[in-house]
Amino acid sequence: MSTYKAINLIARPEPGPITPKYFEVVEKDIPKAEPGQLLIKQTHMSLDPAMFGWMSPATDSYIPPVELGSVMRSSGIGEVVESNHPDFAAGDRVMGMLGWQEYALSEGQGINKVQAPLPDETVLSIFALPGLTATQGLFNIGKPKAGETLIVTGAAGSVGSLVGQLAKADGLTVIGVAGSDEKCDWIVNELGFDAAINYKSGNLSEQLDALTPNGIDLFFENTGGPIQNLIFERMNNHGRIVVCGMIADYSKAEPSPGPNWIPLIKKRITVQGFAMPDHFHQVPELLAKLTPYVMEGKIKHRSHILEGLESAIDGLNLFFTGENKGKLIVQL
Ligand SMILES: NC(=O)c1ccc[n+]([C@@H]2O[C@H](COP(=O)([O-])OP(=O)(O)OC[C@H]3O[C@@H](n4cnc5c(N)ncnc54)[C@H](OP(=O)(O)O)[C@@H]3O)[C@@H](O)[C@H]2O)c1
Repeated sequence: MSTYKAINLIARPEPGPITPKYFEVVEKDIPKAEPGQLLIKQTHMSLDPAMFGWMSPATDSYIPPVELGSVMRSSGIGEVVESNHPDFAAGDRVMGMLGWQEYALSEGQGINKVQAPLPDETVLSIFALPGLTATQGLFNIGKPKAGETLIVTGAAGSVGSLVGQLAKADGLTVIGVAGSDEKCDWIVNELGFDAAINYKSGNLSEQLDALTPNGIDLFFENTGGPIQNLIFERMNNHGRIVVCGMIADYSKAEPSPGPNWIPLIKKRITVQGFAMPDHFHQVPELLAKLTPYVMEGKIKHRSHILEGLESAIDGLNLFFTGENKGKLIVQL
């Protein structure tokens, strides 16, 4: 019988980089699909910052942590190689929470067929979590209006790059915040953002003043970090702050203090956090909103491909160093 590899989470990460000591790589026999089951050979696995939360012991989050000793949680795309399930056939291309493993046995829950004739990288970069998150956060929470000014942090990332392009397509002035000159250049010159700020450069206050002469109406927050306070100070009356992510704090023992709340009252600002699992029942309508922008050629993306299952472990650190250029995907 032939075998496949899987990676189990065996310890809760401490603050700092992710290392192999938190995982065990195991070799298992490839199983047979029993009645009601399908066997999927995974081809592309998505890496997401949400994994830091899933690995933590916190039980008060929107989803339970991954149990120690079990396969690390992740979404991915693969091909059905054997099916004893009435809804799936061998050869179907499918997507779902397949985990850090080369093969996944499933009873079909949460597994969806991928019909779109698009490369796997494009599906994972746009039509999976990044695009759903950008669409939900921007349109349903941020409620953008043409002529407004939007600022998005993590602007060259999977979610942020989509948020900025969608807002630009709808007639907003879009400023992106990213962590390198290369990323700033990409979002302005390739994606069409109006301007970008490298948050690792100096004079952030002066740069923000120069780029937002009419203040900021919509702040799509993906990162946190010191620029958060500077953006907050420039919010307009009735501004909206969409809190999608706070990656600057994910590996810290103590999160940073946030801005003072008095301006929320004076300026009647709305701050709303959200987590996509609350909105998975809205996927058809989110895709219906997103797809026309893609079909009209208004959305570009880039994927950062790592090779082989074990590359996922060190790959997670790229989110913190910012070395990921686009959607992080592991090709199996
Ligand atoms: N609420 C939800 O349901 C939901 C769903 C999906 C994602 N998210 C969140 O959205 C955010 C973006 O996710 P993504 O998948 O699109 O990841 P991503 O932006 O493609 O990758 C993460 C990026 O964060 C930036 N970063 C890392 N440390 C930072 C720091 N200290 N300060 C500022 N920026 C830092 C890095 O870019 P630079 O080079 O620019 O620093 C890195 O490339 C994450 O916080 C994630 O948790 C939330």
